[in-house]
Amino acid sequence: MSESRQRPPFKGPRWIITLVALVTLVVITALIYPPRNSVTCYMFSGPGCQLYQQFLFVPSRELTDTEAAAQVVTNEIMNLPESKTANPKIAFMFLTPGALPFEPLWEMFLRGHENKFSIYVHASKKSPAHTSNYFVGRDIHSQKVAWGQISMVDAERRLLAHALIDPDNQHFVLLSDSCVPLFDFNYIYNHLIYANLSFIDCFEDPGPHGNGRYSQHMLPEVEKKDFRKGSQWFSMKRRHAIVVMADSLYYTKFKLYCRPKMEGRNCYADEHYFPTLFNMIDPNGIANWSVTHVDWSEGKWHPRLYNARDITPYLLRKIKSIQLAYHVTSDLKKVTTVRPCLWKGDQRPCYLFARKFNPETLDRLMYLFPNYTSLV
Ligand SMILES: *[C@@H]1O[C@H](CO)[C@@H](O)[C@H](O)[C@H]1NC(C)=O
Ligand SMILES: *[C@@H]1O[C@H](CO)[C@@H](O)[C@H](O)[C@H]1NC(C)=O
Ligand SMILES: *[C@@H]1O[C@H](CO)[C@@H](O)[C@H](O)[C@H]1NC(C)=O
Repeated sequence: MSESRQRPPFKGPRWIITLVALVTLVVITALIYPPRNSVTCYMFSGPGCQLYQQFLFVPSRELTDTEAAAQVVTNEIMNLPESKTANPKIAFMFLTPGALPFEPLWEMFLRGHENKFSIYVHASKKSPAHTSNYFVGRDIHSQKVAWGQISMVDAERRLLAHALIDPDNQHFVLLSDSCVPLFDFNYIYNHLIYANLSFIDCFEDPGPHGNGRYSQHMLPEVEKKDFRKGSQWFSMKRRHAIVVMADSLYYTKFKLYCRPKMEGRNCYADEHYFPTLFNMIDPNGIANWSVTHVDWSEGKWHPRLYNARDITPYLLRKIKSIQLAYHVTSDLKKVTTVRPCLWKGDQRPCYLFARKFNPETLDRLMYLFPNYTSLV
């Protein structure tokens, strides 16, 4: 047969020897350095493994006392069965200094879905006069919030705590006074409730606005390689919200060592605490992008603010059509990572909400709302 002649000559012995040598090397390495982390535990069992195997992540050193305690609690929470409620709801949690200019738009969005959501408002400066009945009586106890400081994280935790009281709340969305919805209620509800993920923005930035903010004081529990960055505007599953309530170890690290003017640098806890925490305890449980769009393309300290003249069906369609999540490092290399936004394996629009919208855009947005929310 002519086919067999074209095959390369048999090179068995050489590659078998190479393979055997490689396997031997791996085995010897494993014996010299006893397995300490879960991956090697998976491959080789050793005395340290039984103790550590059940933990979510295992550092290559002995756990500190607080860390061991924290891991036990986190582990129990993460392994709880999905809480089944007959009426799963989304908690919309608004973090605002005062007024919520887009209440009428949110009311348009929420109308007809009364049993499928709850609203919570944390007004850090002054209690807003609500214009929508959906928001009346929904203010929670609040305290002052200073931009970039731990008080921002405290407000987020306060919102989560209040929203967790209702066992029907299964997904928790953080929104600001300048956020607007991009899709109709049913689309957003299904996207969040039926996703098994928390949409927490998270990436590794070796540059000055990422790892440059890391402090050695976070050792030993938070190593530099674990430090992550991401936008503060999260949406999370109930089990993750409970983990946030239970965490004091990592929260305290960020409270003490990730703050403005820390060792001559500025660290902002609201951009690092959740990404780092969830990257450590449940990296596969977070999407790594936020469902809230914001336009940083102007390259300024603050994102683009949309004014009334910017609000066109074209702009809204453009934001809604984005199906790739971008991350750019803050060093000189400006390395860009692009990932498709996957929802149960299918590529979908990344963003359900957008900011920052000037209050003067309200009328335009309400006029266009039926159109722009119905078209994907
Ligand atoms: C969804 O989450 C549950 C609860 O944590 C988990 O047990 C399950 O494996 C997840 N399913 C998928 C497809 O990721
Ligand atoms: C998020 O990023 C982490 C770390 O890069 C990765 O392990 C994880 O799989 C990502 N999550 C998803 C859902 O892809
Ligand atoms: C809504 O969309 C339809 C179809 O594209 C268009 O004919 C109509 O003028 C739009 N209405 C508004 C208010 O923009």
